[in-house]
Amino acid sequence: MNNSPILVIGKTAKTGLRVEQRLHSLGYSTRGVSRSSSPTFNWEDSTTWRKALEGTQSAYVTFYPDLAIPSAEDTIREFVEAAKDAGLQHLVMLSGRGEQGAQRAEKVLMNSGLAWNVVRASWFMQNFSEGFMIEGIVGGELMLPAGDNLEPFIDIDDIADVAVAALTRSELRNRLFEVTGPRAMTFTQCVAEISKVVGYPVKYTSISIDDFLTALRDQGLPEEMLWLMRELFTVVFDGRNSSPTNGVEEALGRPATDFSEYLRKVMATGAWHHSGLLHQA
Ligand SMILES: NC(=O)c1ccc[n+]([C@@H]2O[C@H](COP(=O)([O-])OP(=O)(O)OC[C@H]3O[C@@H](n4cnc5c(N)ncnc54)[C@H](OP(=O)(O)O)[C@@H]3O)[C@@H](O)[C@H]2O)c1
Repeated sequence: MNNSPILVIGKTAKTGLRVEQRLHSLGYSTRGVSRSSSPTFNWEDSTTWRKALEGTQSAYVTFYPDLAIPSAEDTIREFVEAAKDAGLQHLVMLSGRGEQGAQRAEKVLMNSGLAWNVVRASWFMQNFSEGFMIEGIVGGELMLPAGDNLEPFIDIDDIADVAVAALTRSELRNRLFEVTGPRAMTFTQCVAEISKVVGYPVKYTSISIDDFLTALRDQGLPEEMLWLMRELFTVVFDGRNSSPTNGVEEALGRPATDFSEYLRKVMATGAWHHSGLLHQA
């Protein structure tokens, strides 16, 4: 084990947090960064990158808001050059499945001369419990422009395990792991399973993309995020990603975690009961 810290970009991000915890429990030192850390790291301000990179040899990188956005490829190109200048040797990058922009950014990394890994993930199960969908769940109705599309949602504890394996096991270097959960599910099925365990009714309502974007615009979401939402729910969510892969098994030698186990873990945290008063009437 070498002494330089492993850089984790996205200290407060859903996967970054878990990657850092796992590395600590394995005895590695880390430098977790985001806009709120010291040193600070901001994808929109390249002058913050050098300080974060200095003295590190490997990194787990989560981009924000999403590698699908048009500017991501150039930002990753500039970041990879900065990383090489700073002496980084190995970069593990989280990517999104079925996103053309993300795949262009992946290629930049693969052709950079750095040792690399790409963890190309399906939609996170934790979007229901830690992300933008939690309000719909605790409010009893999740409204999305997702129709009856099938998605093999992944438990991000699996993503963190794969990322840590990639960071710490040299025999896995220079490989792309396309990771998903074990079964493709519709939002109707996911919400029905959630409703069964939470003890209050939750339903899924499919709405039009235009109604969805209008609601988000009214909430003040910036244009870039509106573009991203349209991209995710129309282009990326057109059924191209509906087949599960065995990327978790390839990296870890064990199957991916099922939605039922994810539900068990969330129920133990109480995340879906924060607004329990809503459901006592
Ligand atoms: N969600 C999914 O289903 C999914 C699926 C596949 C791939 N991904 C990939 O996962 C990544 C993001 O996932 P997520 O949306 O679930 O969010 P997330 O990983 O939870 O990340 C949110 C964090 O990003 C940090 N952040 C925000 N703006 C930043 C900036 N300008 N510079 C540096 N850090 C910034 C924030 O921390 P601070 O406030 O502390 O800065 C925040 O805690 C994307 O790269 C996406 O492509 C997501």
